[in-house]
Amino acid sequence: MCGIVGYVGARPALDVVLAGLKRLEYRGYDSAGVAVLADGGLATARKAGKLLNLEKELAERPLSTGPTGIGHTRWATHGAPTDTNAHPHLDNAGRVAVVHNGIIENFACLRAELAERGHELSSETDTEVVAHLLAEEFSSCADLAEAMRLVCRRLEGAFTLVAVHADEPDVVVGARRNSPLVVGVGDGEAFLASDVAAFIAHTRSAIELGQDQVVELRRGGVLVTGFDGRPADVRSYHVDWDASMAEKGGYDYFMLKEIAEQPKAVADTLLGRIDASGSLTLDEVRIGASELREMDKVVIVACGTAFHAGLIAKYAIEHWTRIPCEVELASEFRYRDPILDPRTLVIAISQSGETMDTLMALRHAREQGSKVLAICNTNGSTIPRESDAVLYTHAGPEVAVASTKAFLTQLVACYLVALYLGQVRGTKWGDEIQAVVRELSRSSQDVERVLDTMEPVRALARSLAHKGTVLFLGRHVGYPVALEGALKLKELAYMHAEGFAAGELKHGPIALIEEDLPVVVVVPSPRGRSVLHDKIVSNIQEIRARGARTIVIAEEGDETVVPYADHLIRIPATPTLLQPLVATVPLQVFACELATARGNEVDQPRNLAKSVTVE
Ligand code: G6P
Repeated sequence: MCGIVGYVGARPALDVVLAGLKRLEYRGYDSAGVAVLADGGLATARKAGKLLNLEKELAERPLSTGPTGIGHTRWATHGAPTDTNAHPHLDNAGRVAVVHNGIIENFACLRAELAERGHELSSETDTEVVAHLLAEEFSSCADLAEAMRLVCRRLEGAFTLVAVHADEPDVVVGARRNSPLVVGVGDGEAFLASDVAAFIAHTRSAIELGQDQVVELRRGGVLVTGFDGRPADVRSYHVDWDASMAEKGGYDYFMLKEIAEQPKAVADTLLGRIDASGSLTLDEVRIGASELREMDKVVIVACGTAFHAGLIAKYAIEHWTRIPCEVELASEFRYRDPILDPRTLVIAISQSGETMDTLMALRHAREQGSKVLAICNTNGSTIPRESDAVLYTHAGPEVAVASTKAFLTQLVACYLVALYLGQVRGTKWGDEIQAVVRELSRSSQDVERVLDTMEPVRALARSLAHKGTVLFLGRHVGYPVALEGALKLKELAYMHAEGFAAGELKHGPIALIEEDLPVVVVVPSPRGRSVLHDKIVSNIQEIRARGARTIVIAEEGDETVVPYADHLIRIPATPTLLQPLVATVPLQVFACELATARGNEVDQPRNLAKSVTVE
């Protein structure tokens, strides 16, 4: 949530900052703003709405720019998305500029204090207090980093702050608590950003910032200290993807590109997981095999699409390892006093590695003595850093707000974790594991085949663009797939869409069925557990008898469903547990096309942000 960029170097800061903001706009697009140092002072521009509005403003009223600057793209929390509430915020003298991501919980009392001391605050934001506090502290210490440390010690809540001061024109200062900020180190230049995407075009050398740390950026180097002023250990890392991977590459939308990248993402996530002896290996497992053998419960915590991956994982974990597995929305988990102990393995799934609710859930679990294994797509992010073990998904950067390739790779990772648990606990033999991994390896080609047959799905989506409601039904692992199909449609097409367990139909949802209502049904394989298949075929008949327009997703060769399908979407035959890898893809394409047909912004749906770093 909110994208932040800071730059100090030799180039015109405005260009670097704007280019960085473009890469971070997925984090929020309620307003955008920049502050650059020039001619002994600060020059700023801020505009409500998308970055494009700011660019227009800058085209009409150009700013002169030096080589130091900061920028912000906002997802509004405190205060409406107006020009006045847009960041950067300044002090009364206009000498300090600050951008912020997060929520400063004690801002109201800080604001009252400032007002008493004669400060005039012009916005409704929590951020503006920081600019005023920094100005006060700077006036006595004349050191922006020290002023930042002093101010941060007075703040409560979660925040990333980046600031510049006209009296220290070669310095950018950043700070973080429970909110993301990474440092990029170039040759004679340095960057600060919410995400490496902002500076990947300039450097792939990055530094992780720890909790409660302040960083001072100068052309010659970077200095990291704690809020207490003590020098901090820094961990540098190399970003293993390049700028081209964060570009649209000829596609109209990032989402289309990311859907198309799924076969590769799935294959990459599987790569190198089996060693010469046929055993599975994970990335950074700081949980011993003996501890894993002692676990008597698995709890998965996640939000949004990652939560749906967790729901699917439960089926695989319980089936392959016989350990009870609960799946919970991270936002609910820690507020209900869950039963956790050292024999509980908590799995936190997060594409960004920064989702606040998931982070807080894992911290709570670790405080109770549980071990946490993270499944994450973002190297250097907070969630894997604070976990006991990590399995990285190798989806590459996911920019579109609606998650697609990250979801499929989360599924792959979940299957791998389930198999790994089966391996160390001895509930799965090596050859059984290898058989599943072989099936998993095939899924990359299966996804490719699904993608090659999507034209009828796109045509169907366009024909339904005028509809108000679409329902989704599934059973077993098809149920979370139905939930994910509905979520995609909600977030992209702004339609009423709901996913149901098909067995629940007769307990309420069937009352929603009316003439020509589109209902998507995810049909399990008739092979394997055929009882599931038979039951869902009955459900299709029941809704069709009441007028529903049935859109049936069924595997190739399943002829039983043909008479009851108004529209039939074929997917390759896969083992039941792995079916979500192929069944989800048509639903992604369906939602994307329907949203486009309705004229919606596919990559940046209204009110949403990709990385939700506030609770
Ligand atoms: C936001 C995004 C979703 C994502 C969810 C969890 O809501 O729009 O696409 O699934 O956050 O994000 P995470 O980064 O933790 O997977």
